[in-house]
Amino acid sequence: MTEGGVGAAYDAAAAAWRAGPAQMYARLAEAMADHAPVDVRGARVLDAGAGTGVAGEALRRRGARSVVAVDLAPGMLAASSAPAVVGDLIRLPFCAGSFELAAAAFSLNHFADPTPAMAELRRVAGALLATVFAPGWDHPAKEAVDAVMARHGFAWPEWYAAFKAGGGDGDPGPAELEALAGRAGYRTAGARVVEVDTGLGTPADLVDWRTGMAHLAPWIATLAPDERARARQDAEDAVAGMPPLVVPIVVLSATG
Ligand SMILES: C[S@@+](CC[C@H](N)C(=O)[O-])C[C@H]1O[C@@H](n2cnc3c(N)ncnc32)[C@H](O)[C@@H]1O
Repeated sequence: MTEGGVGAAYDAAAAAWRAGPAQMYARLAEAMADHAPVDVRGARVLDAGAGTGVAGEALRRRGARSVVAVDLAPGMLAASSAPAVVGDLIRLPFCAGSFELAAAAFSLNHFADPTPAMAELRRVAGALLATVFAPGWDHPAKEAVDAVMARHGFAWPEWYAAFKAGGGDGDPGPAELEALAGRAGYRTAGARVVEVDTGLGTPADLVDWRTGMAHLAPWIATLAPDERARARQDAEDAVAGMPPLVVPIVVLSATG
């Protein structure tokens, strides 16, 4: 698993995440919530790798009775409207069968092998709703903003390089996610690609999204204000004219 570095990086990124990526992830969470494998109304939900809690909030809007958020990064959880617990998905501090549904929105992709985390989620919840980015999905703003920041002195942190090298950021496709669910012990598993038009796409939206990501935000926070403003302007210039954020995601619905 991606050790300490990830939790610390998300912790340090939390404020910028809330101002940027959270807008996109909230829209992806709404799309995910349409595919719950069990009736959400009245369900006790675990938001697993909750970040700022957008998946739990989408499920609350669909009638979940309660939501508990768990994440490695307390700074991310500080924005969650649900009761929150700092914890690791591979060792959850909950009794077996505590929840009807676990929602893992873009958290399983942090594991080189998500099977142990999925098995642990299965121990505490009867059903799993999970998302990752679709294999091969990319947006030109990702490389463009990283390149601008590199010109201003940014270097990829070790944990992010390892995450990328381990296939992080959305490798498993529907068939692979279904197979992983089977290996984790789920009896039924169905996965599909869903394309989400986030409605975001201005240069400011794209730069907010990228500069709030956990690999960049902690470094940007170290820049002097005038240098930060120059880097931001360079980034907005670099992404001007790029396509809007339409994001294909893989949604897994599993039970048993
Ligand atoms: C890409 S963010 C997604 C956050 C949120 N689910 C959303 O959709 O906005 C991934 C989250 O997973 C958390 N995370 C990564 N590895 C984790 C682990 N082993 N246990 C718990 N949380 C983890 C990170 O701290 C981060 O908040």
